[in-house]
Amino acid sequence: MSTRQEKSAPRAASRTPRPSSADGDEAPIQPDQQPRKLEDCRRCGLWRDATQPVPGRGPRHAAILVVGEQPGDQEDQAGEPFVGPAGGLLDRALADAHVRRDMVFVTNAVKHFKWFPRGKRRMHKTPAQREVMACHYWLERELASVRPKVVVALGATALRALTQRADARLTAMLGQPIQVGDMTVVPTYHPSFVLRAPDAHARDMAYSALVDALRQAGRIAGGEAPPDGEQPPDRS
Ligand code: URA
Repeated sequence: MSTRQEKSAPRAASRTPRPSSADGDEAPIQPDQQPRKLEDCRRCGLWRDATQPVPGRGPRHAAILVVGEQPGDQEDQAGEPFVGPAGGLLDRALADAHVRRDMVFVTNAVKHFKWFPRGKRRMHKTPAQREVMACHYWLERELASVRPKVVVALGATALRALTQRADARLTAMLGQPIQVGDMTVVPTYHPSFVLRAPDAHARDMAYSALVDALRQAGRIAGGEAPPDGEQPPDRS
């Protein structure tokens, strides 16, 4: 085994991004690997170019679990989820939805930052579904340990991870709670989608949808049943 494989301590972020030497898209997925610690995870290749893995964070038995896509540049360096601009917007939306931050466990579908270099910057690259599936191992553990009353899926990657369906379409399911096994999942926009909206009107619409979904999650977590009429997705 190479020394690189054995290394588990977080590495310092390099100042000048280097080209991604082992793009996760190319690296083999190793679903048989069942590491006990996130630092040791080699289930996909994304660990190679990340500073460190970013686990979820929040109260151990939070009533609401919020799932994003993957850590961004700032989260990669801090080792904590949602500490950058998307996190700032999420905090504001939680406050506007009157959901207490201490009720919420925040995590990501994928625990390593996937990026490509542009000049000196590390740009976000959407994780492949095979990487999302490989990382489901960790999401499952977080869900089992927190046992939230409701899960909010921020964006399509989180929705696909939670439903285990590559064809799940966010726009078709937006804001409608769905039952996935014994979980109630509320799908909504990712805060980065709100931040990237092309104009003020689109931004306001997306932000309102995000706040509504969080408010809905707050109601469900508070004991209110989700509205009738939702069909559990086919998980076969
Ligand atoms: N975007 C995410 O999906 N997760 C983070 O932790 C930060 C930005």
